[in-house]
Amino acid sequence: MTATVVLGLAWGDEGKGRVCDALAADVGYVSRYSGGNNAGHTVRVGKEDFKLHLIPSGIVREGVVCTIGNGVVINPEVLKQEVEALEKRGIEVRSRLRIDGRAHLIMPYHIRLDSHREKALGKAKIGTTNRGIGPTYEDKISRVGIRVQDVFDEGILRAKIEAALREKNAIFEGIYGEKPYEVEELVSYLLSFKELLFPMVEDTGALLRGALENREQVLLEGAQATLLDNDHGTYPFVTSSNPSVGGACVGAGIPPRYLDQIVGVTKAYTTRVGDGPFPTELFDETGDAIRKAGHEYGTTTGRARRVGWLDLPAIKFSASLNGITHLALTLLDVLSVVERIQVCVGYEIDGERVDEFPMSQTDLHHATPVYKELPGWGVDITGCRMRGDLPETAQEFVEFVEAEVGVPLCMISVGPERDQAIVEKIGA
Ligand code: IMP
Repeated sequence: MTATVVLGLAWGDEGKGRVCDALAADVGYVSRYSGGNNAGHTVRVGKEDFKLHLIPSGIVREGVVCTIGNGVVINPEVLKQEVEALEKRGIEVRSRLRIDGRAHLIMPYHIRLDSHREKALGKAKIGTTNRGIGPTYEDKISRVGIRVQDVFDEGILRAKIEAALREKNAIFEGIYGEKPYEVEELVSYLLSFKELLFPMVEDTGALLRGALENREQVLLEGAQATLLDNDHGTYPFVTSSNPSVGGACVGAGIPPRYLDQIVGVTKAYTTRVGDGPFPTELFDETGDAIRKAGHEYGTTTGRARRVGWLDLPAIKFSASLNGITHLALTLLDVLSVVERIQVCVGYEIDGERVDEFPMSQTDLHHATPVYKELPGWGVDITGCRMRGDLPETAQEFVEFVEAEVGVPLCMISVGPERDQAIVEKIGA
């Protein structure tokens, strides 16, 4: 009876979908616990790429039951598109996907509010994915959100939409001079998803707890990442949920005692989409070369990702916060394009050497990285399947990262294909 959590250690896009796909080969259940369609997880099967925003990546593994937990926010239109697109490609979804009735729905007004808020912030904008994520979680916390289960009780649905619109319409009309929403329009909009949702809605927490009691394996698939966590990340440049390990229990509805493996995923370098501090960011041709080699363009928004060197104090902070038991190092092959590799091992902040990732936003903005330089390898490593196959300098890099973070590596990805990875033992 064990649950494994896979979560990102930096600012997202670490390749969690890929790691989950590898681990999903041995599990019965894969569950998303936070975020929504701001995520974009890519899984490659043979020559086919599956880009998933909402449905757990385990869906591409035959027989795996996938759950969207109570902590996720769901855009029903995106859910419908994703279900239909997967089914068109021959993947059975409806009989294997379970959606918690407590999960909140992203409404059209949330998406509009997301974009108004960003405009109002001007230069201080967060750079959100504009998917309505923040406003949906705000309504959840304010207790005026609409949940999946509300779609099955028209009276309650109408009453909740009426209550939500009283304030929302005052904002749209009064502040932005825009047309208000009609209650009935939104009621019919949501009722149009009733048929799609009905066979899939369940108490997914109870389902997972039952599976764990029956000694089945559950994989919890994190979205976004630790440095985007609303409590622990680089606030205010964060998302509105808790992608870190605590969020996994709350958002999937399982007690912490079941978690026994926590896999932290990091790229061999760092990327960030959206605004906010990023001490090791590169603005030169090395950054461009890494961006090009790593195809660092957002799966969800297509935005070019900001690129920089691996930031060990940041990764160590996230490793410690999440209590990771294993590390997965992704996109090692991308570093083949650089001659010398820099790894940040500390910072200089206002003339002082600091080894920890700073809690203070001001300090983080003033942090200049202190680097350790390591030799590159400059050759194609995509054919390596064991650590010993890697060039010596690549092995040195891997060992250095593993020793600094202080937990064993369970996977090193060396290419985009499913089998282009060095997989090491995970488990007892
Ligand atoms: P939101 O989650 O759309 O509100 O965006 C908040 C911040 O999180 C922005 O900087 C986004 O770029 C970032 N973000 C949200 N989801 C992801 C993701 O899946 N990968 C990387 N960054 C993300």
